[in-house]
Amino acid sequence: MIEYLRKAYQGKRVFVTGHTGFKGSWLLLMLEELGAEVKGYALEPKHENDLFNLIDGSNRCEHVVADIRNKEQLNLEIQDFQPDYIIHMAAQALVLDSYNIPAETYETNVLGTVYVMDALRFMEKPCKAIIITTDKVYENLERPEPYAETDRLGGYDPYSNSKAAAELATSSYRLSFFHPDNYATHYKSIASVRSGNVIGGGDWSENRIVPDLVKALQNDDPLILRNPSAIRPWQHVLDPLYGYLLLGAKMNEDPVQFASAFNFGPQPEDELTVQQLVDVAIDAWGSGSYEIPGDLAQPHEAHLLKLAIDKAEKELGWKPQLTSQKAIQETISWYKEYQKNPLLITQMQIQHYFSQLT
Ligand SMILES: NC(=O)c1ccc[n+]([C@@H]2O[C@H](COP(=O)([O-])OP(=O)(O)OC[C@H]3O[C@@H](n4cnc5c(N)ncnc54)[C@H](O)[C@@H]3O)[C@@H](O)[C@H]2O)c1
Repeated sequence: MIEYLRKAYQGKRVFVTGHTGFKGSWLLLMLEELGAEVKGYALEPKHENDLFNLIDGSNRCEHVVADIRNKEQLNLEIQDFQPDYIIHMAAQALVLDSYNIPAETYETNVLGTVYVMDALRFMEKPCKAIIITTDKVYENLERPEPYAETDRLGGYDPYSNSKAAAELATSSYRLSFFHPDNYATHYKSIASVRSGNVIGGGDWSENRIVPDLVKALQNDDPLILRNPSAIRPWQHVLDPLYGYLLLGAKMNEDPVQFASAFNFGPQPEDELTVQQLVDVAIDAWGSGSYEIPGDLAQPHEAHLLKLAIDKAEKELGWKPQLTSQKAIQETISWYKEYQKNPLLITQMQIQHYFSQLT
């Protein structure tokens, strides 16, 4: 499998938006491992100890610091680079922040996606574009059955809804400008990907469960659990990123067949509540505690969310490599070890992951 990925990416030009973020930094190292040439387009990392800084990300790619809402610059950077692939991840990615800055969330997540696809209209070279949205794009019915790609889009909070809107814009651009039936006239293949709650080393975002927990563990403070019984599709960051790369490789092989939406999540029966996740993490860390406040006033968040992954399994041959429990253990092991050599531990986790792919 690794050879298959290498064949698709070695020496190829990959334009990554959001490369300074948590997932973007892991992706940079994966693409480096596969021998790709990367140009990244994003804002500066937010904190000194962001993974991007820890791995010296600005020296591992052509690093452009710019706003995705700057349509002209984004277009110039894409035309200048002439990518073989675009992986669009830049986003205002936090649900709680989206309640504070809803309009900015829509501008970044919807218009940003539109501007990426618009730039593609003016590029003659063949290109595969993968638009990253989220598992939260589905209209959440709080039902036990997992959501499939054919389920209705919705999104309660501005983040989820902006990503559902980005999905609709992607679908419209695909039908209007990059229709798979007319591939020979435009040479563009556009897919979107919806992944679950991603965990892994190097995420320091506010109001995400693992970073909040690690900060509490490091300071020996009890963690305040906001939604202890909520069930989420937890997955290690390497699983969806491998899914995106595999999808890109398949699109390279057959740009028509794979130009559609794909879910990437854990096995639906591999379900853990927030509280169970924290229990596993505390066990792996070796100490720690949490408190469950009775009457914490907080904005709405989905309680029950599962993803169906049959399409990715059948059509791409993808499957999650790590159970939720293993994903938590890998994540905690990263946070326990990273201060010694963050680049090395991240590279080692990637190499180990790649070596197990069949
Ligand atoms: N982390 C998760 O659990 C998860 C789950 C599903 C989907 N996603 C999606 O994956 C992608 C990456 O998520 P992440 O966890 O790495 O988020 P992150 O917040 O760590 O990174 C976001 C990236 O987007 C960039 N960005 C934000 N606003 C921008 C702007 N106006 N102009 C240019 N760049 C901008 C940031 O600079 C950063 O590089 C996002 O699209 C997110 O919605 C994340």
